[in-house]
Amino acid sequence: MSRNVLITGAARRIGAVCARLLHGDGCNVILHYNSSEADAFNLAAELNAERKDSAKLLKADLSLSSDLQKLADEALTQWDGVDVLVNNASVFKSTPFGQVTEQNWDLAMASNLKAPFFLSQALWATLKNKRGCIVNIADIHAETGLPGYPAYSVAKAGLVAMTRILAREMAPEVRVNAVAPGAILWPEHNVENAERLEILKKVALQRCGEAEDIAKAVRFLVGNAEYVTGQVLIVDGGRTLFR
Ligand SMILES: NC(=O)c1ccc[n+]([C@@H]2O[C@H](COP(=O)([O-])OP(=O)(O)OC[C@H]3O[C@@H](n4cnc5c(N)ncnc54)[C@H](OP(=O)(O)O)[C@@H]3O)[C@@H](O)[C@H]2O)c1
Repeated sequence: MSRNVLITGAARRIGAVCARLLHGDGCNVILHYNSSEADAFNLAAELNAERKDSAKLLKADLSLSSDLQKLADEALTQWDGVDVLVNNASVFKSTPFGQVTEQNWDLAMASNLKAPFFLSQALWATLKNKRGCIVNIADIHAETGLPGYPAYSVAKAGLVAMTRILAREMAPEVRVNAVAPGAILWPEHNVENAERLEILKKVALQRCGEAEDIAKAVRFLVGNAEYVTGQVLIVDGGRTLFR
């Protein structure tokens, strides 16, 4: 599979694993990052050592409209344009309902919803020319919400709705799908052991997933799903069975 793939939030964790997997399949990758500069540089160096000139770095704060447009413009000048956009970057911050400030709201919306929308729009012409696709990384909690994370959950619900809406808007040339992860990597802020066990009790497969599980779902939607658009692929070890 030889495509040019722009992945947002690609320096670390799930985004980095998606980049490695798609790169291993022969794709060129544009690694977007914001604050994780060292990780992004190391990943680009690793991938370029495997295949010369196959990974580029672009820095942007997705909460700034000017950075968003610049990211899209710069991505378009890499190789011969973008075939695949993976909207992975996200702010995952707990703020209980009743205490959500406008700033919390704006931050959650910017990375999880606004940036995916405007990047899709800015890249539409090239995606259309190249018969490309978009994969949005959503969340199983887009359905009914993750308690304590109302702004994040609303943003992800918007992202799922956007997946279906843009699948119609961008058809027939561009496919738009989403992956909805369950418990994959614990957030970096402390999650109590008891809370982890409580969550895992409600996972049919009785364990967390791995970042590779999400990357493989992205790979499927990019490379093997030519007749699939407007869909959300749930990758949660059966957690949604317990709702
Ligand atoms: N981890 C899980 O188990 C899980 C579960 C359900 C859904 N998901 C979804 O899967 C995706 C990846 O999850 P993850 O845990 O790997 O993500 P993460 O570590 O929480 O965040 C990924 C990246 O998003 C970037 N980002 C955040 N705000 C940004 C901004 N304003 N501008 C630019 N970049 C920004 C950060 O880049 P820098 O570090 O470079 O600043 C960060 O490294 C997310 O969409 C998440 O919602 C994950």
